[in-house]
Amino acid sequence: MEHEIADPVGTGPGRVLITGAGGQLGAALAEVFPEADALTRADWDVTHPLSDLVTQCYLVLHAAAWTDVDGAESDPDGATRVNVEGTRNVVALGAPVVYYSTDYVFDGRKSEPYVESDEPNPLSVYGRTKLDGEREVRAGWIVRSSWLYGWTSHNFVRTMLRLGAEQDEVAVVDDQRGSPTFVGHLAEATKDVLELPHGVYHVTAAGDCTWAELAEAIFEEAGLDCRVRRITTAELGRPAPRPANSVLRSERGAPELPHWREGLRECLARL
Ligand SMILES: NC(=O)c1ccc[n+]([C@@H]2O[C@H](COP(=O)([O-])OP(=O)(O)OC[C@H]3O[C@@H](n4cnc5c(N)ncnc54)[C@H](OP(=O)(O)O)[C@@H]3O)[C@@H](O)[C@H]2O)c1
Repeated sequence: MEHEIADPVGTGPGRVLITGAGGQLGAALAEVFPEADALTRADWDVTHPLSDLVTQCYLVLHAAAWTDVDGAESDPDGATRVNVEGTRNVVALGAPVVYYSTDYVFDGRKSEPYVESDEPNPLSVYGRTKLDGEREVRAGWIVRSSWLYGWTSHNFVRTMLRLGAEQDEVAVVDDQRGSPTFVGHLAEATKDVLELPHGVYHVTAAGDCTWAELAEAIFEEAGLDCRVRRITTAELGRPAPRPANSVLRSERGAPELPHWREGLRECLARL
């Protein structure tokens, strides 16, 4: 069955499409690429093919995804439909694709940062479906990033701001390490990625921390008087396993982003 966007905007060449524009990265991309057609899930549910008539475009920034990491464990078919079959429908448009992927394609057992040539070995259903989605891409750029947050949607920064205003103490995991990346910086860097040859690139904020360290930084920057109690992943007991180390770095000349702490300050300034 073909699914047409309700209000197709232009059918000629020269169009950029953004999928998942209702999400945190999609919203940032829509600001950085104001000429693009920013499609929310209501405009295009990517699990349905789009008609060629309404989708002539030369580039797709594919930010739509099933991102509920724990929910994917109990609904692997749902996650597969969006992350794998949805990507297949995006690729079928025939334009080069920027596919945003994740640090969760790695198992976290490496003691150093992961580079592009490291072998993925996802621990979770989400990570597996995102890796399978990478393998759907025929022409374009696979941009792996990590721990995204922005000024919209659900994310760790917004959750901590809420909890920090309500509680004296929050329990936060201190045995997972990554690079929290501000979607505004990732969206800007996408322009530089487009200048690079097609391939896989690791694009994250500089520096790294644990979730507990990130929570402390959020409270400090926001002036919230809330303690962080450091707990383990096992204590938290979430359904999906997560990599202990998911710091990504590039060996392929990917754009370098500002330090995560700078991204945090920029994000807080918008909230
Ligand atoms: N969040 C992270 O920490 C992180 C880390 C690394 C990589 N990534 C990747 O970065 C990309 C953007 O993530 P994000 O953090 O911006 O996620 P997000 O805020 O959850 O946004 C994802 C968007 O995709 C939409 N979507 C879900 N199913 C869809 C479908 N069938 N058709 C069309 N749209 C659909 C969602 O709509 P609804 O809100 O209506 O469901 C949501 O607006 C994703 O590819 C993600 O895998 C994320």
